Amino acid sequence: MEWAGKRVLITGGAGFIGSHLANRLLELGADVTVLDDCSAGDSAKVPEAANFIEGCITDSATRTSALDGVDAVFHLAAIASVPLCEANPEWSDKVNLQASLKILQEASCPIVFASSAAIYGEPVSIPINEDHPIAPVGHYGEQKAAVDNAIRSIGVDSNSAAALRFFNVFGKGQDPSSQYSGVLSIFIDRSTSNRPITIFGDGEQTRDFIHVSDVIAALITCGESLIEQGTSSPAHGESFNVCTGQPVTLNQVVKVIEDSIGNKLEVGYDKARDGDIKYSSGDSIKLQQNFGWAPKTTLSEGISDLIS
Ligand code: NAD
Ligand code: UD1
Repeated sequence: MEWAGKRVLITGGAGFIGSHLANRLLELGADVTVLDDCSAGDSAKVPEAANFIEGCITDSATRTSALDGVDAVFHLAAIASVPLCEANPEWSDKVNLQASLKILQEASCPIVFASSAAIYGEPVSIPINEDHPIAPVGHYGEQKAAVDNAIRSIGVDSNSAAALRFFNVFGKGQDPSSQYSGVLSIFIDRSTSNRPITIFGDGEQTRDFIHVSDVIAALITCGESLIEQGTSSPAHGESFNVCTGQPVTLNQVVKVIEDSIGNKLEVGYDKARDGDIKYSSGDSIKLQQNFGWAPKTTLSEGISDLIS
């Protein structure tokens, strides 16, 4: 599909995944607008060639102006941290749920939504496919699940929409500076500056780490299908896992980092986080079969790239 001339809105485009997406869509020739309040993102990450609206998705006038005349929306703005949503459930309800539902209602173009593996809660079977029960354990997962559910209930009389359920995304540009940052960004940052890392729990929890370049490929493929085929797209009204299918424990992650930097890490253990899921590993066959998407970057390749 030709992105040249397409006007694309990326909410959360000053964040980790959104800024990668903005760069890629600009490379493909799209006219990109980023809407972000920089609460977790950074305006410096917004590519110069993109239009930047610094504002909050909960503000009605801001949404109206950002959505005006666009051909597609990638809705990524959210409070992305599970414990931060637990600490601020009212605000995360406004941002992650209410504002997302408003964007779904108010947009008159295709929407791709950043859903999450967190909607499955503690899995009853592994690997998790899209038919797995939706049973989130905390506010973050509940709010993502409600938007994901709204997309699956959307019907054919509205604009087209799809939800991509990302598992644990990692790669360059993930901010390591907060306790709420993604675990890999924290571990890499600490280990490359000879500081100790802390594992919450026994380190035997698993995550399915998917490289950001594979996530961007999934977002773009899905967006193209919705733009080209509208509500006839196989993506419309559907949710897709975006994952590798390879569960890795945090203790194994430590080993991979140690092998990559050639040093032992100083590892401490603390009590498990409230609301933390113990096991997570997904099945991406639905995305593979519908769109020929497949994950390309392995965990050790991605970690080596981060360390180099
Ligand atoms: P991120 O925190 O880097 O990006 C989110 C962006 O949203 C930030 O730039 C932040 O400033 C912005 N934002 C937050 N509240 C806002 C508001 N009220 N108005 C406007 N902008 C606001 O996180 P990320 O890792 O890039 O995640 C992007 C999306 O993918 C999020 O929706 C997240 O829930 C989802 N997701 C991420 C992962 C992951 O592992 N990183 C996994 C599953 C789903
Ligand atoms: C992550 C994403 C969330 C996404 C979900 C999908 C972030 C910040 N969170 O949540 O947006 O929807 O995946 O699966 O990107 N941990 C430590 N030490 C640390 C930090 C974390 O042991 O210093 C542990 C946590 O307790 C948890 C695991 O690492 O067991 C992963 O934590 P985290 O990176 O915050 O991600 P999730 O909670 O899985």
